[in-house]
Order: sequence, then C-alpha cells, then structure tokens
Amino acid sequence: MTERLIGQTLDHYRLDSLLGSGVSGAVFKAHDLKSQRDVALKVIKPQLTQSPDRQIAFAEQAGRFTQLDHPGIVKVVDFGQANAIFYLVMELLSGDNLLQMLRELRLAKRWIELKDAIPLARQVSLVRHYARQHDIAYQDVRPNNIMFKYERSGERESRAGLPYQAVLTDLSLDPSQTLALHDPFPPALLPYLSPEQVLVGLEQSGQPTDSPSDVYALGVLLHVLALQNPPATFKTLSEAIDFHQTQTLPAPRSIRPDLPPAVADTISRAVAKDPADRFPDAAAFAEALVQLLPDTAPPQPAAQLAAQSEPERVVAASAEAEGEAEAPVQLEPSEPSEPATIFIQTPEGAVRTISIQAIQEQQIIIGRASDNQIVLDFPDISRRHAQVVFDGQTCQVIDLGSTNRSYLDQLELAPHEATLWKPGQTLRIGDRRLR
Ligand SMILES: Nc1ncnc2c1ncn2[C@@H]1O[C@H](COP(=O)(O)OP(=O)(O)OP(=O)(O)O)[C@@H](O)[C@H]1O
Ligand SMILES: [Mg+2]
Repeated sequence: MTERLIGQTLDHYRLDSLLGSGVSGAVFKAHDLKSQRDVALKVIKPQLTQSPDRQIAFAEQAGRFTQLDHPGIVKVVDFGQANAIFYLVMELLSGDNLLQMLRELRLAKRWIELKDAIPLARQVSLVRHYARQHDIAYQDVRPNNIMFKYERSGERESRAGLPYQAVLTDLSLDPSQTLALHDPFPPALLPYLSPEQVLVGLEQSGQPTDSPSDVYALGVLLHVLALQNPPATFKTLSEAIDFHQTQTLPAPRSIRPDLPPAVADTISRAVAKDPADRFPDAAAFAEALVQLLPDTAPPQPAAQLAAQSEPERVVAASAEAEGEAEAPVQLEPSEPSEPATIFIQTPEGAVRTISIQAIQEQQIIIGRASDNQIVLDFPDISRRHAQVVFDGQTCQVIDLGSTNRSYLDQLELAPHEATLWKPGQTLRIGDRRLR
C-alpha cells in the first residue's frame, strides 16, 4: 500500500522514497514542488483518521504541532488531506534514528556509556517538558523516534551540555486515545506505556496521558540506554495488563550489577508502579538526571562512541595475501616507518590522529558503518561516505555518493570520481574536517 504511493503527488508534495513505516503511518522523503525543498511527509494510517471525530482531532493536533518551536522537536511545517490520505509534513532530518544507532552498537558489541546516556535522557526529558507545557498530551520517546541534529556551533547549555540535539520526530496520536483503534495493539509501544495507561486505556479509552506517564516512558528510555533493553516487553496488550496487575519490574541492578546505585534508584523511581512514587514530571526527572552526571569531562555524543572507544583500523593490503580478502588489522600508533597521517577535527575542535601505514594500495573507507576503516558515526555522515586511496606517496579521495557530499577545501567532490588530496588541503565530511 505504502510502496505504491512512491512517485505520487499529494497536493504539492511529490513522494520520492519511503524512509520507513511504523505504528501510525509511513514516512516518505518528499519534494515540495512549491518551495522546491525536500521534506519528510508522514502518511497517517487510515484507521487513525477514519471517523470525522478522528479527522478533527488530527487537524487540531497537527495544527498545534505547527506552532511548536523547539530545537528538540521536529518542525512540522504543514498538514493536509489529499485523495482521502491524511498527511503531516516535517523538516527532513538526515542520519539514522537512535534505534538504528543502538542496533549498530549492539552488532559491534558495544553500548552507549552512562556519561552519554544520562545527558541524552535528560535532553529528551527537557523536550518532553517543553511539549507538555504546550499542551502536547503525548510524545513517543522510543529510540526509533529520536533523531539528531548536529549543530555547527552554538550554546551547549540549551542542549543539556551535549554537542548535538536529540530531536523527537513523532508527535503522534495519544495511545490511550487510540488504544481501541489498534487491533492488535502494536507490541513495540507496550514497554513504554505506564501501568495506568495500559490499565485505564482498556476500560476507558479517551483518558489523556499525564506527567507521571511521561516520566515512566522517559524512565524506560533511560533503562534502554543504560541496560540495553526495556525493563519488560510484551507480545500483546493483555500480557501487559496481566503483568502490571500481578508483577513488578525487575530491579535494574539485578540486570546490571555494576550500575551505580544512584542511577538504578533514579530509573526505579521513574518506572514505579504507583504514579505517586515517580518524579512528578519530566522536568523533575531531568533535574534528577543532572545529579547523576559526573562533573568531569564534557559529555561526548552517543554516536561518537563507536568512533572513539576502539583504535582506528586500516586495511593493509598485503602482497603475500594475493587474491585473499584483506583482514582488518589493528594499527599501532607508534610503528609506521613512513607515516602518513590524517587529522580529524570535530566541530568542538578536538583532533584525532590516524596514521596510515605506507603500504601499497591503501583503500580506506570513511563513514558511519562500524566495519569501515575510519568510523565516523555521526548523523550527518553516510554509512559509506568517502574513500581514501593511498599509494604510499599520494592520497586520492572519492566521495561514495554520500547524502551530504564531501568537500576538498571549497570544492564539492563529484560522486565516485577520484580527486588528488594534497597535503594541507581540508577534506570536509559532515561536520568533520580531515587533513
Ligand atoms: N522528519 C524526519 N526526517 C527524516 N526521517 C524521519 C523523519 N521522521 C521520521 N523519520 C524516519 O522515518 C522512518 C519511519 O518513521 P515512522 O515514525 O513511520 O516509523 P517508526 O518511527 O519506525 O515507528 P513508529 O511508527 O512506531 O514511530 C523512521 O526510520 C524514522 O527515523
Ligand atoms: Mg516514528
């Protein structure tokens, strides 16, 4: 159904490709034929806008979304209805969502560290608080709905001390209002619904969510960031109801014994069964998270972990291993006899140094994917962004058809064409500068 919409035009939006689909609809990369800009367009699932009541509610909510102005909330620029399809138009964000990033970390057998997880949860909590103040009853804070904007410069304070801004992309319909509309209820939502949302929702759909339910969802998010999984998962709504009626969530330290007690206590309080035992609202939870922050080094972006927690690897093409796939080897920083060095500068000014051993035919892929030789895991960088070919004397650089392109000094590199990278020239990839 969604696939066949590709190429079609809704009002003045041409749907170019499908970015993904979920519980409330499907998101397309679309082109606004009026402004000639690319946008993200969400087509709402028909069952959520079937009745006239739902259609009015959609228009009301969507109208309210367009009024919001917060760097942590995706900008909703338009909404409408065409060919019996209700849609929401948003700014198009680049990069992966947090769920995709966490999946990559899991595959690489790594995980986000607490010093990154806590400020990230705090940032999301502050966004949630803002939305609550603007009467947005519900925001879906699951990792699939969190994307990132990587700012070039600006104040860190506004971003809870992080060098990036987490952006909530789903201002979707309140699940307690739409509980009855989902049959079966999407299991992915269930871990994030508070016990009272699950229980009340069944008997009395139409109840708005409240602040303690926000805190519960944010507590589950922190649980995922700190412990890799939600405290409980359910296959069906009735399983969730049964669980919340009869059982309690496991203590975080029973899952991860080395979790600092203060972090464990904060999670437990956020996801307490009784709403009265939780932090009263998202702002209070955010404040509690500040107390957990180590007052040491400034936090690093979560996505940077993949790039920083492991030594850089280069593929060394060996003359003896002719015809064989080249195995990645660890590069010892001290050993190259004739070192060629790439300096990577972050927007914050930090510099990393990568030495390339002067062995014939070095082919080095730079990008977000964890198996690249130089992993730059940032939302504005493509999975395989650029390639550097080093013949022992000179470097050539090739943009691999990346979304945000590569620049050598001021020159935008034509995709898939090799260009000589002279010493002293700056290769710009996303917000990184390489020399
Ligand atoms: N404004 C946006 N810019 C770019 N990509 C977006 C934007 N909003 C959503 N996406 C991406 O589109 C995909 C589909 O989003 P959608 O919300 O339909 O599904 P989901 O987030 O995977 O699941 P759910 O419906 O449960 O939220 C996701 O990968 C999401 O990251
Ligand atoms: Mg979503």
